[in-house]
Parts: sequence; C-alpha cells; structure tokens
Amino acid sequence: MQDTRDLLAKDRRYVWHAMTGFDPEAATMVVTEAEGAWVTDVDGNRYLDGMAGLWSVNVGYGREELARAAYEQLTTMPFYPMMQGHLPAIELAEKLNEWLKDEYVIFYSNSGSEANETAFKIARQYHQQNGDPGRWKFVSRYRAYHGNTLGSLAATGHALRKYRYEPLAPGFLHVSPPDGYRCIYCEGGGECGRECALKYAKEIERVIEWELPETVAAVIMEPIITGGGIIVPPEGYVEEVGQVCERTGVLLIMDEVICGFGRTGERFGHQHYGIRPDIVTMAKGITSSYFPLSATAVKRTLFEKFEGTDQYGRLRHVNTFGGHPAGCAVAVRNLRVFEEEGLVERSAAMGEKLRAGLSAIEDNPHVGQVRGKGLLCGIELVEDRESRQPASAARVAEVVSGCKERGLIVGKNGDTTPGFNNVITLSPPLNITDEDLEFIVETIKEVFEGNAEGERPVRPPVA
Ligand SMILES: Cc1ncc(COP(=O)(O)O)c(C=O)c1O
Repeated sequence: MQDTRDLLAKDRRYVWHAMTGFDPEAATMVVTEAEGAWVTDVDGNRYLDGMAGLWSVNVGYGREELARAAYEQLTTMPFYPMMQGHLPAIELAEKLNEWLKDEYVIFYSNSGSEANETAFKIARQYHQQNGDPGRWKFVSRYRAYHGNTLGSLAATGHALRKYRYEPLAPGFLHVSPPDGYRCIYCEGGGECGRECALKYAKEIERVIEWELPETVAAVIMEPIITGGGIIVPPEGYVEEVGQVCERTGVLLIMDEVICGFGRTGERFGHQHYGIRPDIVTMAKGITSSYFPLSATAVKRTLFEKFEGTDQYGRLRHVNTFGGHPAGCAVAVRNLRVFEEEGLVERSAAMGEKLRAGLSAIEDNPHVGQVRGKGLLCGIELVEDRESRQPASAARVAEVVSGCKERGLIVGKNGDTTPGFNNVITLSPPLNITDEDLEFIVETIKEVFEGNAEGERPVRPPVA
C-alpha cells in the first residue's frame, strides 16, 4: 500500500498528463490491469471502459495473441527502418488494400497526427508534380479534430485546442459541420435531409471557388465527426463532398483515425457512403492500441506521380519508428481477430442495441439527442430541449462522474469548440458482451433518472 502511495506521489511530481496542467489536488486514475471491456485501477476499483481507451482498443483488452505477435516479431527482427522493408510491413499493406477495397500504397507513421501531416505533404507535392503547383490550401470543418501537430492542429476546427499555440501552419480553411441537431439551414433538432446535406457540401465548394480552386490542395474530413461531438452527416453529404472534390480537382483526404477499423459498423467509415477517397489516414484501431502505429494510404495513381529517380520528385519524408515491425505484426494479427470474430458486423449490431437501449433517456429534459453509427455514440446534453441551449460544464461533469461512481467510464468532447463541449461520448470495445452493453445502458439510464438512492446496476463479475 505504501508503495502505491509513493508511486502516486511520484506520478503527481513527475508525470505531465495529457490535457492537464499544474494542479496539486488533481486526482488521476492510475490503471494497472485490463481485461475485455474492463480496467482496474491501482486501488482495485473496476470500471467498464466505455471509451475503449481513447476510442482505440477495438478488440478489447487482454488479447494474448496480440502480445505474442509483438513478442515473436521483436525476438525475430526487432527493427529496421522503412527506407528498406520488412515482412510485417508488406503483409499489413496487402491486408489494408483488401480492407480498403481499392489500390492504395501505404506510408507508415506512429500516430494519427503524423498520418495527417504526411497526407498534407503528399497532397501538396502531388499537385506540384501533376502540373498544378499552386495548390497548397486545405479545407476542413469546424468541430472536427485532426491532431496535435502544427499542421494537423491547423486543420482541426477546435478553437479551444488552438488558443495560445497559434500561429499554426497557414493555409487551413474551415467550413460549417453538417450538424443535423443544430442545423443552420433548417429547423434542426433531428436528422437533416438531402437538401441540407447539399447545402453543407456547397459551402465547401464555395470556399474552394472563392479561394480559387487552383490554390486548394485537398479537403480533409472524418466520415463522422467524432471527438468534436459525434456529428453524423445527413444522407448524401459525404457523397456530394466527393463530387465537389472531383469537380474542382481537389483531393479528398479521409481521416479514419477513429471511424476506421469497425468503429461505425463498416471496416472504414467512408464505406457507408460508397466513395473512394484519394488518401485515407488511420491509427488507433489499426493495432487496437497494443502498439503505436498509423498509416497514410495513398491511391496508386497519386503515388505514381512521385518519380523515384528524380531528386525532388521523391517523397523526402521519414520517421524512425513509423512502420515498426512489431507494430505491423500486431496490426496483422489484430485484423485477423476482427475477421475471425466478425467484429465489424458486431459493431453494427451492438450499436443498434446500444441506441435502442438509450432511447429510454430520450425524453429526459436534458437530453437533446442520442446519435451515432455502430459502436460510436453521442448523447448531446442541453439545458432545455426547447431552446437547445448546450448544457453547462457542470451538468456534463455530473453525468461523467455519475457514471464513474457507478463503474462506467464515458467520455465527453472537452476543450473543443467554445460553448459546445456538451456531448457525452461512448466508444466501447467492439467485442463487448451483451451483459456489458446492458451495464452501460442501465448505468446511463440510472444516472439520467437521478436514482442515486435506488438499486444500482450490478457490475458483471470478472469473467
Ligand atoms: C479523427 C482524428 N484524427 C487524428 C487524431 C490524432 O491522432 P493521434 O492522437 O494518434 O496523433 C485523432 C486523435 O484522437 C482523431 O480523433
């Protein structure tokens, strides 16, 4: 016990946690074990991790086969840089092509932010070498997150993540997100129709035209805005953005860092909409977070513009750890788990169940909307349903802590767009059991019913 207290004191002294600053009173949860959808903290408290880590432990915790894949690769051949090659990188690239259902060439990095940075550089250089040297700007949406580096943060539409770090990389432009609950074109309150979808896509086209198409390199978007508040686009929107890009000669970069790997009930989120992006970026679920790895998948036709024998035609871009052999080996095994256990289909089915269960809270005066796709779910909280005024930080915090007290970890879209940090997020492991899903639903229902004194949902026993 003394050891634990010492460690916690050292944690406070030496570790700078993400999204935090100096606060001697801050209580961080130190996690020591994890299995299935459950994590255990240093004091032995168990929690159902309704966020799968950071939207990322898609196949669940405690997968020995993934640890074994890393071990075997590390003992066989622990590292070689990607200027040359290794077997797991090849195997994974071939598998990703199968999952992407088209011909892509894969550039590996370590994180989602780097995967997006790589995409930006590739897009600019591609245009330079494709007779369109003036194309250097990028269009993205307010409320979407694309990473923490100076380019990917510039693409991000969250003022609260940028404030005090600016100026960031120039040339990143933003348009409205297709938010059906707070629609700027219709009454909102629900899902918008095709008419609004086209108007939101038109906004992208207008920005491209007004900036001059010959200066715009790419549009970057997530199929569904995730960290910004689970904003599911109206029908026809993603397809129309694809058309806009085609009409204007602008590349489409699809950020699948969260939506990829089954999260939304398809292998990749954009596959709901039948489009073929020019570039697809991915991270998190690629290894279910058992190893850092990310990828930038680039259409073969683009790759062929990077003349390998030309001094400046090549992509002059490298990172030491990107495509680490152990990461690639884990990813290959991870994708096999998905296929063996039908986890993409499971995400779609369990997502339906989750939303059906949560329909019980839809009448609550502070629940504006429950929305999502697959096992990606958001609960937008409001002060009152009539005005749709976003819920206060205190009200959102109450829900998060109410869940945690009862053994459930949920997320929230913190520090994103001013005034709109009012969405509770759920993104559990895709192999979540029926019993665990019911625990999520019952716990959330109880928190919204304010039934603090009543019988609490029983935590399923350790398997
Ligand atoms: C959609 C999206 N893109 C990019 C990133 C950046 O990924 P990373 O944190 O691995 O750099 C994230 C991270 O949450 C993300 O949600």
